[in-house]
Amino acid sequence: MSSDSLKSMFYQAVESRKSIRQFSPQMPDTQVLERILTAALHAPSGKNLQNWRFFVCTGAKRDQYLKYSQKSWLGIKDALQKKLKPSLYEFTERFFFTLGDAPVLIFCYSQNSEDERYHTSIGSVYMAVQNINLACQVEGLGCCTMGAPLEIQKEVDQFLGLNDREDYRAGNLELLCAVAMGYPKHDPPKAPRKLEDRIHWLS
Ligand SMILES: Cc1cc2nc3c(=O)[nH]c(=O)nc-3n(C[C@H](O)[C@H](O)[C@H](O)COP(=O)(O)O)c2cc1C
Repeated sequence: MSSDSLKSMFYQAVESRKSIRQFSPQMPDTQVLERILTAALHAPSGKNLQNWRFFVCTGAKRDQYLKYSQKSWLGIKDALQKKLKPSLYEFTERFFFTLGDAPVLIFCYSQNSEDERYHTSIGSVYMAVQNINLACQVEGLGCCTMGAPLEIQKEVDQFLGLNDREDYRAGNLELLCAVAMGYPKHDPPKAPRKLEDRIHWLS
């Protein structure tokens, strides 16, 4: 492939990506999910610690999470009611109750050491999450990165059975976000980008 077509495919993937919040219940093939997760593992990480940990829920485990998602809504609904217009508020509420029927949920954790948490650990996980977003895009899947599970962080930890892990008991595993994923069932408009005051050139 010429470097020009690679370049145009890359920018097309980046610019056409958008958060998807309604999914077909069709489960993506395991090989597709493995490619997406492998893309996550290719992200850069501070000191190459590769300190991301992903917990992938499908089937019954994914279904069981819905009641937790509904609970996380309670933590943020008042703030959102003030910010969002009613139709968007209702759409968001429905998303929290159903997760858009996404067949796959990926909980993304950082395995921190005390002195690395801000310097490298957290940022590295988000680099990997962006690779997941872009890999979904080129695979024809959609996804939505969600900070909402942080509202019920401890309960999510328990739901995933992290108490059985030594690194969790040592206080080193930290939930950063979840990603709902599947084949898109809607085509929302692209969220507008703000350009002013975002980039500052100095010379
Ligand atoms: C760290 C982070 C947390 C987010 N949390 C949520 C969330 O809890 N629920 C949700 O519906 N979308 C969530 N989003 C998606 C954003 O709302 C979305 O990326 C933004 O509105 C821009 O839209 P786009 O992704 O379609 O470009 C989150 C995105 C990021 C990066």
